[in-house]
Amino acid sequence: GPRLFGRRTNSKGWDLTDSADLAAIAAARDPHETTIFDARPRLAGSVAGGQRIEMRNPATGDHVGNVLPASTPDVETALARAQIWEASAMERAAILRRAADLYEAEFGPIFALLAREAGKSLADAVAELREAVDFLRYYADQGESLTGAPRGLFTCISPWNFPLAIFTGQIAAALAAGNAVLAKPAEQTPLIATLAVDLLHRAGVPATALQLLPGDGPTVGAALTRDPRVNGVCFTGSTETALLIRKSMADHLDPTAPLIAETGGLNAMLVDSTALPEQAVRDILAASFQSAGQRCSALRCLYVQEDIADHLLEMLSGAMDELTLGNPWHLATDIGPVIDAEAQADIRAYIAAARAEGRVVKELTAPEGGTFIAPTVIRVSGIAQMTREIFGPVLHVVPFKASEIDAVIDAVNATGYGLTFGLHTRIDDRVQRIIERLHVGNTYVNRNQIGAVVGSQPFGGEGLSGTGPKAGGPDYLARFSVQYQPAAPE
Ligand code: NAD
Ligand code: ALA
Repeated sequence: GPRLFGRRTNSKGWDLTDSADLAAIAAARDPHETTIFDARPRLAGSVAGGQRIEMRNPATGDHVGNVLPASTPDVETALARAQIWEASAMERAAILRRAADLYEAEFGPIFALLAREAGKSLADAVAELREAVDFLRYYADQGESLTGAPRGLFTCISPWNFPLAIFTGQIAAALAAGNAVLAKPAEQTPLIATLAVDLLHRAGVPATALQLLPGDGPTVGAALTRDPRVNGVCFTGSTETALLIRKSMADHLDPTAPLIAETGGLNAMLVDSTALPEQAVRDILAASFQSAGQRCSALRCLYVQEDIADHLLEMLSGAMDELTLGNPWHLATDIGPVIDAEAQADIRAYIAAARAEGRVVKELTAPEGGTFIAPTVIRVSGIAQMTREIFGPVLHVVPFKASEIDAVIDAVNATGYGLTFGLHTRIDDRVQRIIERLHVGNTYVNRNQIGAVVGSQPFGGEGLSGTGPKAGGPDYLARFSVQYQPAAPE
């Protein structure tokens, strides 16, 4: 409808098949291959700082930058100095649009950091910068027509897997609605967050309206969710952390303070025997292994109709053999490392346990050196056998019979999560029937289930996967404001 589309245009991005775009990327990004970046609190007052931390490239171990995390006095400074952005909605929107333009202009250091700090392939980095820019422009437009008043001070807490797009999206939404923001990026990605906040300030966002507090979750993050001066929390990350934040808010904040939480998933795809196998394989590959499986939207459990299962898995195995694993700095790399040694150890242990049970049906070989996990396929009896989200390039497969489709959907619903679902079929009635039965936020038919586009595919889950409203959709901003009912006429 018109509310969804409006006049905004999504970022043009960069075309990695165009030699002019590639040359521009090399010229702007490559000088930052060895730059040592800096992250520190950005406060509307003086910074005390904690113990300095060195950030390392997950693919190579190289030194990427240094972080001065926020200390307890810094948290107090931020809370005391925060002020609602006193500007009209039009002025705020203009500044957010200017920030979008600055993000696009600064693609060189942004692509460098997305690779070096977050392990993102160039294709992922391009998509991520586009999404960040789209959020800025989309919420700027939405903010201009928002009714209602700002809530006050928002704490925005973001994950490392979209260290620019989600980090920026939360802030842009809260600011577009007129709130002040305290932004707490993930421990793993403070450098890119600092770069982003500097661009937002350069665009004209006042220092009192947006402050940055790098630091860890249990100290800095928790402090920012239990201070009664905070009027709302916007969180993206794991379901476990969302529960901790909710408890903390319930004990300390005004009972009307909202928690907008986008959390984890146990996402499935169903491929029936009418599916086009080449297309299904391409989509399975992208949804399971792109970004090294480190997307909340990623495919975790593939249900494939038994008549075609052997054929499809053979094709998938062949396609996996063509993947290039390695340093995401290089254009040829399809799959980079997982975020850090802790994630690598966790996923390795999970795969080793499945291997010991004889359930690994395909695995590639990980490169030496960085925190790599080779894409792996594991057989399971059903999604119920997966008790938690494995946040890496690990796909589970289950053959099913045509008579079991309703039971499959019921099993997917029974996980309690409801983020994304992929469906490959050419039977229209089946599409309808499945969509009606399924409880997930985003269902994709005959395509992969990652990479929702701001403004066209509002993104968010049900149940354990999130509170809604969907990010990048027309209802998101209202949650960041207080909606007054107009007085009834006499
Ligand atoms: P995480 O929950 O470990 O951390 C997310 C953020 O919360 C970080 O900034 C962290 O410092 C902070 N945090 C941790 N403990 C805290 C506490 N007690 N109080 C306040 N803040 C605290 O998640 P992660 O590992 O960074 O990200 C991966 C997770 O995020 C996955 O579960 C993934 O599915 C989910 N995710 C969801 C979406 C979505 O849109 N639904 C998008 C991206 C990622
Ligand atoms: N919005 C991201 C995706 O759809 C998480 O993959």
